[in-house]
Amino acid sequence: MPRKKPSNKIVVQNYQCKSKYGYIWVSLDEPLHDIPNFPEAENPLFYQIHEFMEVWNCSGLRILENGLDNSHFSFVHRKTFGLENPAPAPARYEDTDTGFNMYSNVIVNNPGLQKNNLGIESKETTRYMEHNWFIPFGRRMKIQYPNGLIHTIITWATPINERQSLFVQFAFRNDEDCHPNVEDIIAWDRAVTNEDRCVLETTDWNTPLTSNEEFHMASDMPGIKMRRKISAMFSQFDNENRA
Ligand SMILES: [Fe+2]
Repeated sequence: MPRKKPSNKIVVQNYQCKSKYGYIWVSLDEPLHDIPNFPEAENPLFYQIHEFMEVWNCSGLRILENGLDNSHFSFVHRKTFGLENPAPAPARYEDTDTGFNMYSNVIVNNPGLQKNNLGIESKETTRYMEHNWFIPFGRRMKIQYPNGLIHTIITWATPINERQSLFVQFAFRNDEDCHPNVEDIIAWDRAVTNEDRCVLETTDWNTPLTSNEEFHMASDMPGIKMRRKISAMFSQFDNENRA
């Protein structure tokens, strides 16, 4: 064996890395916050479904602002759960250390496949929706139905470059006793997610952080809040670098 010590120049760049929820989470620099503790993962009544991991030709902010937009259901999701009524459901907001929460009740269509998935026979149903946005591009969306079923979706968009994101989605549900068909549950979420992707991949990847460069309506408040908080984060970085 050679006794020479390797040169200090021979190094491999290492990064902070953790395993959680069945995924490897890597931070290229100091993390903005720890990996969130999703309550469903600690609750024995819930099981986890791994759904999607794929490259989308879209910026992370576009994906996340769409995820919290109550106005797009009636046109983007017309073929799945969107009602024809275009009036967006009102929402309540609450700031958190890692972003903000958003709460709303949304009336939705309940077509064939979803009737079985939810165990709800009515033509329409109500979703109690609780979003937690995690700066910059993470979301937990808890959807609770009137029969007590909870379908929580976790969505993370990791930037690959300016124009592409790694879209990852997994879910938690509390209906194991009802012998759910997981393939049907994934098929429904696939159809809904494809509807979003179809539109999002046509959007401009260059997403302005100011709120006056694009037209915003009241229902765009989640996207405006995201822009404000990301801008504040950049200002803080600038101030720290100048100090
Ligand atoms: Fe959507």
